[in-house]
Amino acid sequence: MAIVRVPVQDQKLEGRDAVVAFLAAQGIEHERWTLSRPLAQTASADEVLAAYDPEIARLKQRGGYVTADVIDVRPDTANLEAMLAKFRSEHWHDEDEVRFILEGRGIFFIHPPEGDVFAIEVGAGDLIRVPRGTWHWFDLCAERRIRAIRLFQDPAGWTPRYTGSGADAGFEPVCLGPAHVAAQR
Ligand SMILES: [Fe+2]
Repeated sequence: MAIVRVPVQDQKLEGRDAVVAFLAAQGIEHERWTLSRPLAQTASADEVLAAYDPEIARLKQRGGYVTADVIDVRPDTANLEAMLAKFRSEHWHDEDEVRFILEGRGIFFIHPPEGDVFAIEVGAGDLIRVPRGTWHWFDLCAERRIRAIRLFQDPAGWTPRYTGSGADAGFEPVCLGPAHVAAQR
């Protein structure tokens, strides 16, 4: 289940009801899905999309999404740092950002027009929808692993519009979930 933090208030929210209510108040949808179809580490993007075709079709219908792809990142992914640099600079999109996390963990930082920046740590089974126009950035947790389905309303796919506000410089991608706990043992 996702974890929400408001770093400047030293506030942390856990548990489905608290997290969903907090995010809903910010216009962000969150759902938990059951990962009923295990996928091999070597599964191709097409195999991932085929396995979750019914869910993708339902989301497309609900949100007007026209395309879906798979982002599959590991510590040894080529040009990983260059890729992450694009994600971790504050930006917005002309369309919703929809991600269904299949494996690994990451953090969305959301910068609301009023109020403090908050972080949403997501992991396997989390579906999140960040509405179009929301200022945000994204980073991976220390294990540098994520596999997620992305849905787009624009057939051109992921198009960021960078804010250049500098807000992203003040926050560390500190993850608190199971992988982090395991690393501390
Ligand atoms: Fe984005």
